[in-house]
Amino acid sequence: MKYEFKETLLYVENLSVAYDDTVIIKDINLIEKDVVRENVDCTGQVVAFLGRSGRGKSTFFKALTGLIPSTAGKILIRDFENKEPNAAKPVKEGDIGLVDQKYTLFRHKTVTEALKFSLRKTTLAASEKDSKIKQYLKEWGLENCAHKYPNELSGGQRQRTAIIEQLFSSDQFIVLDEPFSGLDVGNIQEVKKAFDLLGQSSEVNTVIFSTHDIDLAIELAQTIYIIGYPTIDGKLQNYGTIVAKYDLREMGLAWRDYCEDHLKLSKEIIHQMMIS
Ligand SMILES: Nc1ncnc2c1ncn2[C@@H]1O[C@H](COP(=O)(O)OP(=O)(O)O)[C@@H](O)[C@H]1O
Ligand SMILES: [Mg+2]
Repeated sequence: MKYEFKETLLYVENLSVAYDDTVIIKDINLIEKDVVRENVDCTGQVVAFLGRSGRGKSTFFKALTGLIPSTAGKILIRDFENKEPNAAKPVKEGDIGLVDQKYTLFRHKTVTEALKFSLRKTTLAASEKDSKIKQYLKEWGLENCAHKYPNELSGGQRQRTAIIEQLFSSDQFIVLDEPFSGLDVGNIQEVKKAFDLLGQSSEVNTVIFSTHDIDLAIELAQTIYIIGYPTIDGKLQNYGTIVAKYDLREMGLAWRDYCEDHLKLSKEIIHQMMIS
């Protein structure tokens, strides 16, 4: 399957985060680029983070979205307002939307009101906002939820609203912390559909998510990172970092139906997670 790497969208260098004196994650380095595929209009990027509990995935996501400060390192994202090739800017809160596991929504706003609120910083006219909201509600199967409050929505509907909300306020990037946890089979299909929609709605859209489900990560992502404790000089450390990276495109496993090779990768990932 032919593809090409284009501009850098996300650049993380030597990132560390500590709570008080306890280092939680350290020396995280990664680069994610826009990928363009031959004969495919709109690809989007999907990046998955796997790792055992407590290794620092949520901490990393909070630092990545500017919700907590880092103790060292830098995070740059593509500056889409600057037309220069590869123009980048340091990330700040609000640039990258984070959908947490609870899909927190405004209790006193209807779906339409909440979405209007997340478009407040855009330059769209009121009528354009209305039609954008209508369009998304339709595409995401939320038409009959337009005037409902969060407590009137199902878990899946809440989550989709939270995703659209973050998309509206942050555009190109969206980070989801364990979006599949605690969902039933039907809801999992819905979130998968949401991933597809995200990829199709803009070429540069990048979805970053964490999960405990290795097979889902393999099915959805083109890049998989394992966050775990590194072993240095034979000794297991107690801070999280990227201990392995799998580029499924390079491995010929991206954008394909599940086969024997995916199973092999799944076994390798389990092993990598067990030792870190
Ligand atoms: N606000 C906090 N203050 C102190 N320690 C924290 C805080 N949040 C998380 N931790 C610790 O950081 C480590 C990583 O947690 P977390 O990022 O939630 O991991 P994961 O998402 O991979 O399960 C854990 O040991 C956790 O107890
Ligand atoms: Mg977590």
